[in-house]
Amino acid sequence: MRPKIKTCIEGLDEQMTGGIPQGHVVLISGMPGTMKSTVAYNILFNNAKKENKKGLYISLEQGRDSLVDHMAGLGMAHSEVDTQVNIVDMAYLRLNMDGEASDQQSWIDIFKMYADTLKQNFDYDILIIDSLPVLEILAKMNNRREDLFYFFGWLRELDVTTFIVAEASDDPTHINEEDFLADGIIRLKKERQGYDISRQIVIDKMRGTKHNTGYFTLMHNGKEFQLSRVFGV
Ligand SMILES: Nc1ncnc2c1ncn2[C@@H]1O[C@H](COP(=O)(O)OP(=O)(O)OP(=O)(O)O)[C@@H](O)[C@H]1O
Ligand SMILES: [Mg+2]
Repeated sequence: MRPKIKTCIEGLDEQMTGGIPQGHVVLISGMPGTMKSTVAYNILFNNAKKENKKGLYISLEQGRDSLVDHMAGLGMAHSEVDTQVNIVDMAYLRLNMDGEASDQQSWIDIFKMYADTLKQNFDYDILIIDSLPVLEILAKMNNRREDLFYFFGWLRELDVTTFIVAEASDDPTHINEEDFLADGIIRLKKERQGYDISRQIVIDKMRGTKHNTGYFTLMHNGKEFQLSRVFGV
């Protein structure tokens, strides 16, 4: 059986026979504020601490300092894993890219070159891209279907396990191109219950492994995620 990469969310990996098959390209999809970035970072942080795996977090949306602060507030201090987890943001990428990224295609080419070079030098196991909508804007993807197809193909050849933070609408009939291209989809939702909002997580798709398709309530106690089954959905 293919080795698995754990989400390290207590209770979730058992729902997909141990985790995500290594090498998969998986979407972490949800509306704003559904804790997509936290779920993504949690994978890197805990895989570094518990599984001795290396990770690269490319944050295109949120600045590095803001991300590091947010994660520290959720019990995941970057200083604990700084040799294993590399976080780069737009400002950092711009420093490396400015001057060269003059025409339409070159931004994505330089992005790829950066990820490739770091793969050779740092040999990371897990890649996070946060987020796909911003990547699309920067890469000026004109032919979305074709451009995404080739981008996903390139990611698979990179030989890492990739998590891409994606946008989702709450309309279940609305399906994005990337939903077909991805090997897996972990979807995050917000559900209003009276005055309260509860967060839910569902494994919508995971190629190559049996998985539960039910909804789970996802909570964070300031230190770690906690999962419980949603009944009556
Ligand atoms: N200590 C905490 N415990 C639980 N939830 C928190 C805590 N601190 C912040 N949050 C929640 O985390 C959410 C933001 O998390 P995160 O940045 O991971 O979400 P996101 O889905 O990536 O958001 P965005 O769409 O803005 O990128 C906030 O909306 C806030 O409700
Ligand atoms: Mg985010």
